[in-house]
Amino acid sequence: IKNLGGLLGVSATDIIKNLMKKGKIANINQEIDYDTAAQIAEDFDILVEMEEEKDLMEEAFGEIVDNEKDLVERPPVVVVMGHVDHGKTSLLDAIRSTHVTAKEAGGITQHIGAYSVSISGKKITFLDTPGHEAFTAMRMRGAQVTDIAILVVAADDGVMPQTIEAINHAKAANVQIIVAMNKIDKVGANPDRVKQELSEHGLIVEEWGGDTICVPVSAIKKEGLDTLLEMVLLVSEMGDLKANPNRKARGTIIEAQLDKGRGPVATVLVQSGTLQVGDPIVAGASYGRIRAMVDDKGRIVKKAGPSTPVEILGLSEVPTAGDMFYVANNDKQARQVAERIKAQGRVQMMGQTPQKVSLDDLFTQ
Ligand code: GTP
Ligand code: MG
Repeated sequence: IKNLGGLLGVSATDIIKNLMKKGKIANINQEIDYDTAAQIAEDFDILVEMEEEKDLMEEAFGEIVDNEKDLVERPPVVVVMGHVDHGKTSLLDAIRSTHVTAKEAGGITQHIGAYSVSISGKKITFLDTPGHEAFTAMRMRGAQVTDIAILVVAADDGVMPQTIEAINHAKAANVQIIVAMNKIDKVGANPDRVKQELSEHGLIVEEWGGDTICVPVSAIKKEGLDTLLEMVLLVSEMGDLKANPNRKARGTIIEAQLDKGRGPVATVLVQSGTLQVGDPIVAGASYGRIRAMVDDKGRIVKKAGPSTPVEILGLSEVPTAGDMFYVANNDKQARQVAERIKAQGRVQMMGQTPQKVSLDDLFTQ
């Protein structure tokens, strides 16, 4: 606790108080585990990254250094957040059904955990993971995946606990918030009250002199969706989002599972470079050569550029959602890095065997 205080630049007393609020009694010399430390750091608006794993990857693949001239515009990556029942799923569905063109869809739209929509000839990538859990998990691992968060607030219900949580998460991750004031079709809708409540949490809407974009929508009536998407593009243009498509790809695992017939299947988001069939890749302890790729419309593709979500086959095991993936120089490098990460994982597991009784053992939840 003392060391953590030093790292976070807060007093040990504040950390102990923080733990007490969570119903945990601790003293200054106590050891806490990684998850608890990360949680505390988050409460102080500080992002914690797992050091060792990142170092191994960084050692192998290095930081991205691109020349400005190699960078091209990329679509924004958007996540939808908000309180229970405020309409996150309905909004994602409404956007998908109205803005994935029939021509593109080619019949069935596959569920791969992310999809792109087109508006005014531009693309927007949506992460299909409503709720902030996946988002938090990714952030915990140091991955900055999303550019923009659409905060869904029901106009008849207003700012609720998970709305506030979502605001805090987005702010901590330095992600731009656009408010979608949903359910404006309802009789009880009270936009002014919602704006008032938002302002109490630091989001002052534009018409009140602030810089928070707030778009009234109805997911059910499919109203306001175009405006919302136009605003996403506007914010993304201001953010000047760019990437170099002409390099070995890297990005983040969005979802992964074991498929009976196809083996480990992962939905990945390419963040830099272009991912290609045949590429040797590594994601944590999982590695392999990409055997096939399927896009969000269910089409077989050979390549995927920046901000493109794609499903990949060919990994040795199911990777962890939120982990970064990297294209290696060759199969051997991919395997070696994965094996080192696996070995390190084992060491960490062993290290977790409590020599002293950990705080968690003492806590009664
Ligand atoms: P969780 O995933 O449980 O957190 O909920 P959610 O935020 O995904 O909400 P969901 O889309 O499931 O919608 C909750 C309820 O609100 C459903 O009954 C929807 O039909 C309804 N709803 C969503 N959007 C609108 C809207 O624009 N207008 C009206 N009238 N109802 C809506
Ligand atoms: Mg939902």
